[in-house]
Formats: sequence, structure tokens, C-alpha cells
Amino acid sequence: MDQVHLIDHPLVQHKLTLMRQKNASTSSFRRLLDELSTLMAYEVTRDMPLHEIEIETPLEKTTGRMIDGKKLVFVPILRAGLGILDGMLNVVPGARVGHIGLYRDPETLQAVQYYFKMPSSMEERDVIVVDPMLATGNSAVAAIDRIKALNPRSVKFVCLLTCPEGIATLRRAHPDVPIYTAAIDRELNDHGYILPGLGDAGDRIFGTK
Ligand code: URA
Repeated sequence: MDQVHLIDHPLVQHKLTLMRQKNASTSSFRRLLDELSTLMAYEVTRDMPLHEIEIETPLEKTTGRMIDGKKLVFVPILRAGLGILDGMLNVVPGARVGHIGLYRDPETLQAVQYYFKMPSSMEERDVIVVDPMLATGNSAVAAIDRIKALNPRSVKFVCLLTCPEGIATLRRAHPDVPIYTAAIDRELNDHGYILPGLGDAGDRIFGTK
């Protein structure tokens, strides 16, 4: 599927299967999500631009290639997106972090914004929006609408799980935004949950159920 990157590395699939299981404890769910996010960060940052710098080894001067972490912004969609943040920061510790708070109106399933805070100079930055579940796609579209209004250099979207409905909604609204996911599940149910899925990601990360 165009612009959809399925991360099928065996470690990613193994950890995702453990997370899906209903008897996984809050602590193991959180730890697995953390580990998985670090692995996914490798894939999503694969094409990041590098620049050369002069360095000195113990033996001589040479040049090395570096990523400018300061140009990268991770934007977790609150609250479940926070579960992905630390894992990604493990590998790009210099990245900036923006936050967007959206909740899903349980009647309409539409995204309602309650918080928005981004770093300065967004027009110079590459943005990676993170949310474990791309379900209806409404939150992702609303978040990316707001972020694109700040003219960032590029935008990518990372989730753990998605479904055909979520992909179609995001593709329709933002065909230029690549989606990185560990699985594309069967379908969305009438309550906006992914099937077979893993349940409510926020509740499972924060132990609120
Ligand atoms: N959000 C979740 O946490 N789980 C789903 O299945 C869908 C949306």
C-alpha cells in the first residue's frame, strides 16, 4: 500500500503479540510498548538527513556523519501517544517534543482538541506524530491538520496498530504523510475499536481500567 510501511521485524511482531494478550499486566504492557517504540524509531528515522562534521579519533582527524536531533519533533497525541515517546527519545535524545491533546467524542467519534504546544521554528523541523492506535483516523487527521498549519518540513505518522478504515481516512486527508505501523488489523467495530486489536491503549498503558 502506497506510503504505508508495515514494520514486520520479528522482534516487533513478537512484542506486539505479547501486548495484545488480555492478561498482560500494566507493567509488562508499558515495558513492551517502550521496547517496541525504540525498534520502530529505527525504521521511521531511516531516511533522516545527515550532515558531516570534523572529528578527531585518538589517531587522526576525520569526518563523521551526524543527525541533527534538534530538527526532529516527536508529537504524541495525548494521552496514549505518551506511551511511545520515551522509547523514541531513547534513540533520538536531542529531539524536541510537541504535545497535542485530543479526545474522542464518544457519540460522534470526532476528535476534540483541548491542548496544543509545539516547539518554535516548526517550519525548519521534521515532525513524527505518534499514537499507538490509528483507528477511525479522526484524531490523526485533526492533529496533522493543526501541525501542518505551522508549515513543518515534513510529517510522518507512527502507530502500533491500524485497520483499513483508519488508513483510508488518513490517506484521504493527508496523502503525503507516510504511515508506519506494526500491524494492519481486520476492521473497526461500531465503538471505534480495532479488531482484533489490543483494547484501549490508554487504559492499558496507564492502568485506568
Ligand atoms: N483507541 C484504542 O485505544 N483502541 C482502539 O482499538 C481504538 C482506538
